[in-house]
This record gives sequence, structure tokens and C-alpha cells, in this order.
Amino acid sequence: MVKVERVRGTRDFLPAEMKKRREMERIMREVAIKWGYEEVQTPTFEHAELFTLKSGEEILKEMYEFVDKGGRHLALRPELTAPVIRMFVNELKMARKPLRFFYFGNCFRYEEPQRARYREFWQFGAEIIGADSPEAQAEIIALAHEILNALHIKGSIEIGHVGILRDFLAKLSEESGVSLNEDEKNRIMRLIDKGAKEQIEEFMRAKGFKDDAIADLFGMVSLRGEDALKEAREMLRSGDGENGENSRGTALDKLRELEAVAELLSEGYGTPFTLNLGIARGLDYYTGLVFEIYAEAEKLGAQRQICGGGSYRIAHLFGGEDTPSTGFAFGFDRLSEIFPFEAPSDLKVVVVPVLRKADAGLRRDLQIAALKTARILRSHFVTLTDVLGRNLSAQLAYADAIGASFAVIIGERELKEGRVTLRNLRTGEQESVSVEECVRKIKEQECSKEG
Ligand code: HAM
Repeated sequence: MVKVERVRGTRDFLPAEMKKRREMERIMREVAIKWGYEEVQTPTFEHAELFTLKSGEEILKEMYEFVDKGGRHLALRPELTAPVIRMFVNELKMARKPLRFFYFGNCFRYEEPQRARYREFWQFGAEIIGADSPEAQAEIIALAHEILNALHIKGSIEIGHVGILRDFLAKLSEESGVSLNEDEKNRIMRLIDKGAKEQIEEFMRAKGFKDDAIADLFGMVSLRGEDALKEAREMLRSGDGENGENSRGTALDKLRELEAVAELLSEGYGTPFTLNLGIARGLDYYTGLVFEIYAEAEKLGAQRQICGGGSYRIAHLFGGEDTPSTGFAFGFDRLSEIFPFEAPSDLKVVVVPVLRKADAGLRRDLQIAALKTARILRSHFVTLTDVLGRNLSAQLAYADAIGASFAVIIGERELKEGRVTLRNLRTGEQESVSVEECVRKIKEQECSKEG
């Protein structure tokens, strides 16, 4: 016989894990809804070109692609931003903007599996469609922070701006007389995202950049903390003469944008963050502010990035108008590894018909009475009944094994009297009661236990 194993990089979730995940989902949803975001869902697979148009080389390498029976070139979604924008272009082009959406869904990436890195994983994300203003950016970051707070998870928020990095790279290219095409610029951005210094150096040298220019780029991506903006401004102006703002106006505007976001976050939202101009992100579609959140917990090892996001424009690629948008996605599985959670012990009631000596007719009557009683109890408690025709002691042993707190026993005598025997499985006490009394007594005993 062949033993069929789970596919590499995927996971099964047992009941305890699912309880935790559902609780996290509930908390995250609740926060998003309070901020005026509405839930959307898109298909698990899409035309592959949705992701090949702008997501970047990294995502393409990791994409689960296939041709379906109708010859369509499809892909399992590696992320949810492109699908949500496609949905917006297909269905909601005329809707009043900005639109605020959130989503929770599985994503697929053919990555090397390791702790907290899977081939099927879940993202919980939010997008503001139709705005990438400092206000929209600050709101998105503050919302992500609020979700973490609600989960009691500590994370540090690092904010950068890919527009500034790209402009600085353009300045360095201009000064060095090197021309870089779009692919080459994206490649450098991805290497910055990976922190692959040696590869950056090698690549830039091969393109003809001098050591000074390479050092300047490293200088820019290492700017972090309070003075980052001031230092970035100086670096963007340097070499441009007195009136640096003229030739580098756009980059300086972007610095002002970052400054505005920083102010809204600290003064308005009270959201803590660190500026980090080295944040480049692994996806190519970002145009402006970008941010990442790192978990403080050691448990995640190398995969401490629990959230990523920023401003982007992709709607025009899918047949819509150029639409500025801003969003983020949490790595739900990474959060679940560090979410502090103790499963509440559910109250379970087992209805036990005493079938031992009964003749066939009586057995049937007892079973029907048990099912009817269970129907009433179920509107108050988690209630189970026997499905294996087992005797009293086997049913009680099962009740014990699944952690039931009460057994409601129905034998021949109870059937005749129209009553049941309620047994508290923790104390062993039992009494004869009507079904209505039974509900009341279980509630009372549960309350006194909790009290
Ligand atoms: P991303 O950074 O590629 O961004 O993914 C978001 C988060 O998903 C990551 O920060 C990480 O926590 C989690 N994640 C990514 N890959 C894996 C994996 N293999 N296993 C477990 N967790 C993983 C995006 O996908 C963008 N769509 C985010 C966004 C939304 N930007 C704007 N709007």
C-alpha cells in the first residue's frame, strides 16, 4: 500500500491550531471593520499574466503555474494585491474612491520551506484603492499597528521609500555616466531588499559604477533612525550645486512626503516606527512609501518579517485607469507562531441513551429520546450523542476521553418519567431532572465553576 504524504511546504491544521487561527482571524477582522474596511475575496487561481506583468522576477521564479484543460495559462496566487486590483478594475471602476478593502486568503510560493516559510501560507491584508497620500499611507501603517496591538504581538515598524531610492540610483547613474534599464534598476532594488551587498557591488561594478557611487548607494540604504531624513536630504542635494532642489526636486518632494507620514503617525496616531531608507521590498510594483514590520520574538528565526506593504500603481496594467493605492499584508502563519493563545476549554455535553439490555423497539425509543433531548441542549451547549450503539460505560468512557463536563443519561425509567439523569462528570454527582431543569442546572454549575 502506498502511504500518501503531505506535499512539501504545506501543513495540516489540527483542531487546537484551528481554534487559534480562527481566534486570530476574528480579532484581525474586527479591527479592520472598525476602521471602515470591508472584506473581499478573489479566486485562488488567476491568469498567470496578472502576476507576470509587474510583480517582479522573484515572484515569477516562485510561482505555481499550470495550463488547465482548456489551455489557459494559470497561476495559483502568490499574493493578493494584484487580484484585488484586478477585481477593482473588473467590477468597481466607477465606485466612489477611496475604497477600503481587507482580505484573508491562502497564497502559494515555490520557496525553500523552512521554519515560518511555507509553500502554502495565508495573508491577511488591507488595501486603500484610490489614494497614496501621506494620509492614506499613515492610515495603512497605523491600522497594521493596531491589528498587532489587538493580537498582543510586539513588532517594530520600519518605513522607507522606494521612490527616493530609485531617484538616488538615477542620480548616481547620471553622475557616473551609466545607463540602467528598468530590469537592471529592479534587480538592484531586489538585491537591496535581500541585503546582498556583495552582489550589488559586483553588479554595479560590472555596469561601470565607480567605488564612490557604490559607497554612496550603501550610505543611502544604511540611513536609519531619527536623522535619516536629514542625511538623505544632504545626499540627494550633494553635487547639485547651490540649488539642489531644482534638479532633485522630485526626490526632495518624496522626502517631504515621508516626513509628513512620520508626523501623522507620531502626532496623530501615536504609532511608533523607525525610518529606514534601506527598505526596498521584494515586489516591483511599489512606487512610493514602503514599510515592513519585524516581530520581536526570537521564535521565528530568520523569518521575522511579519508584514510588508506600501504604495503602488498597477490598475493601469489590467485595463483600468492609473490608480494610486496603498496597502499591506500580514504573514498570518508567522503571526500564528507567536500569537499568545490558550484555547478555552469548551463545555461539552454528551447525551447517553442506556441501550444495554433494551429490546429493539425500546432501543429505537431511547435513541429517538436522546436525539430529541440533544436537539434542545444544542441550542445552549456543544452536545454530542453516540453513533456506535455502545453501552453505558463505553459511552461514559468516551465522554471522559473527549473532555465532556456533563452526561445526560436516558434509560428506560427516565423515558417513562419524561425526565433525564444529569451527571456532572467532574464531581460524579447526579440527579433526576426535566430537560428544562437540566439546561438550567448545567448553566448554574458552569457559572459557579467559573466564579
Ligand atoms: P510580501 O512581503 O511578499 O508582500 O508578503 C507579505 C507577508 O507575507 C510577508 O511579510 C511575510 O510575513 C508573509 N510571507 C511571504 N512569503 C511567505 C511564505 N513563503 N511563508 C510564510 N509567510 C510568508 C505582499 O505579498 C504584498 N502583496 C503586500 C502588499 C499589500 N503590498 C501592498 N498591499
